[in-house]
Order: sequence, then structure tokens, then C-alpha cells
Amino acid sequence: MRPPLLATTLALMSALLPRPADAGILEAVYGQMPDGRDAKIWTLSNASGMEAKVTEYGAILVSLKVPDKEGKLADVTHGYDTLEGWLGNTSYFGATVGRFGNRIAHGKFSLDGKEYSLATNNDPGGIPCALHGGIEGFCKKLWKGEGFVADGACGVRLAYTSPDGEEGYPGELSVEVVYTLTDDNQLVWEATATTDAPTVVNIVHHSYWNLSGDPSKSINDHELTLHAGHYLPTDPGLIPLGEKASVEGTPLDFRKPTAIGARVEGDFEALELAGGYDHAWVLDAAEPGEDGLFPAARLRDPGSGRVLQLSTNQPAIQFYGGNFLDGTAVGKGGVAYQHRTALCLETENWPDAPNNPKAPSAVLRPGETYYHKMVHAFSIE
Ligand code: GLA
Repeated sequence: MRPPLLATTLALMSALLPRPADAGILEAVYGQMPDGRDAKIWTLSNASGMEAKVTEYGAILVSLKVPDKEGKLADVTHGYDTLEGWLGNTSYFGATVGRFGNRIAHGKFSLDGKEYSLATNNDPGGIPCALHGGIEGFCKKLWKGEGFVADGACGVRLAYTSPDGEEGYPGELSVEVVYTLTDDNQLVWEATATTDAPTVVNIVHHSYWNLSGDPSKSINDHELTLHAGHYLPTDPGLIPLGEKASVEGTPLDFRKPTAIGARVEGDFEALELAGGYDHAWVLDAAEPGEDGLFPAARLRDPGSGRVLQLSTNQPAIQFYGGNFLDGTAVGKGGVAYQHRTALCLETENWPDAPNNPKAPSAVLRPGETYYHKMVHAFSIE
């Protein structure tokens, strides 16, 4: 690895700011892209020992170490040890997905009277769709990163410019993603984008969580709360039918903390179509705080006591229960990730929003700024 000059500068800056001695940021070269370009990695540490690693490849969260009720740190995310591993990431572990995260039916949408065609790279139920930005979406790009240190926090800013026509999307899109680790155990993820021509945007963070810290354990005993009274029923291609439906009386009602495994095998069409939980819930968005965020989800692992509280400014959340994990992906420490050993909580716009007049608009025009914020607040209970 190359001696990190920037890391020395940042360590110096860190020392000048009023922060605990063991908190800070380190930069290193993680590995080389197939074309020879270096991909960097940053290690962010906070006052209580939490540690996040972020790489320029895919603007990916590589790992997140969080204390349990005994103060023991463990990585609570699925992923890979090496850049080479991440280059073969087909599950979107830790990734920043875009330009349009989640699905677009048949890879087609119309904007200002013109039809656009995207590659179809996914076909649940045998029905093709465009998933997570296409064949080579944002999660497969080398971003340009820069570490920073602030009062009570440190982080990484990552930039990527998506050319006009990339993956079939119109307009050159300038994107910035920022990861910030705060001394009060929050991991903040923010995405900002501007365009030079009308386009559609839905940039999504796709970490897979297993709060037990043991990636071979099922997440079925994690308790989940979703601040959502409605979900979006889908067709067999997992494309929302249009209208939202009440969760009342269904296995999709997570308004009270409920073990994920309690109803996942229930006799309910939506669960059968998706092979478990893999749906978008429409967030109640009640009482946004001063920062414009509202509660989205709360996840608790009773064994370790780790709690993740998620808030956002987005209208929906996709809760994906790791149904497609089947042991094929072999990740950190050589662990083969089995069925439902991690789950995703993806705040976002409605899936297929560009084709659904009932959905909040996903259109971004020149002069406007797309802004998506997620706060992952960790605690113990
Ligand atoms: C999302 C989708 C799932 C699946 C995963 C990636 O969360 O909702 O259906 O495609 O990504 O495997």
C-alpha cells in the first residue's frame, strides 16, 4: 500500500479539532480497478470505537463495526474483504445504487413525451425490469473521494459524474454522496444530484444488516418496526400495481416491533410473490423534525442488544429480507451468505415511480437539486 500523505494531513487536522484521541480518519489505497486505476478506502473511527470503512468503488460502505450491550465491537454488514471481492458484488452489498435504484417496469419510461429504454437486468416472476441503475450502475463506478474531519464527526465525500445517455438515462448527472460518522454513533448517508437535462433519479443506499454481528445467523429473530401504515402491492415482477394498500391485518404490518420470522412464511399473496419480505412501504412521514427527517424504521437484535434507528426525508422504504441470498456469495472471512442472514432497509422513492402517476415525482430538471438523507442511529437496548 502507498504511504497515505492525505491521511497524515487529516490525522493532523483531526488532532487540531476538539475530538477524542482515538477518533479520526485514515486513508489508504484499497486495490486496483481492472483498468489499473487505484481505488481508495477510508477508515472512520469515532469516540466510542465505532468504525466505518468506505471505498471509492461504488461509493460502498465496506464495513461498520458497532458495539453490543457488552461493548464488544462487531461488523454488522455483509460484504467482502478485498476490492477484488467487491468487483464481483452481484448482491449490491453496501452499495450506492443509481441512477434509479429499485425497479423500472420493462426498462421503459417516458419523460416530456419521449420514451427511454434501459437495459433489463432482472426478471422476477419471469417479467423483465431495469434494477438498481442497470448493467453498470453507480455501484460499479469508481467515484472520487475525499476525507474530512469536522467537530464531533469525520467522513468521506464521494463524487461521480454520470454522462448523458449512460445506461440509457438522459442528462449528465453530477452526484455527490457523503458518509459521516458522528461521535454519538450515527452513520449519516447523503446523496445530492443536479442535472443538465430532465432525467429521473432515485439514489439508494443498499447495506445489508445483521445486527448480531454473526453473518451466519438468520435475521428472522431481529425485531423490526416500520413507520408505515401502507405498502405497495406488486405484480409478480415486483412492480407496484399503482395504489397503496393498508397494512392492517396483514403480515406486512410492522407498526409495532415484530420479529421478522414471525409471519414471513404466512399465507399472503405479497409474501408469496416476493419469496418473503421484499416490498416498498409508504412512510407515514408524520412529524418531520427540524432537520426535515422523519422516522422510517427501527431494527433490534435481542441477542446482542444492538438497535438501529433509521430516519430519512424520502417517501418510501424497501425492506428486503435477504430472500435471494443462497450461499453463492462468499464474503468477509470466507463466510457463504445464506438465505435471510441479512436485510436491507432502503429509503427511496416508490419503485417504478417514473411509470406511476400516483407516485411522488422522480423527475429532476436543470436548476433543481435532488437530496436524499438517511440517518442510521445506533444504540443498545
Ligand atoms: C433489492 C430488491 C430485491 C433484490 C435486491 C438485490 O433490495 O428489492 O428484490 O433485487 O435488491 O438482490
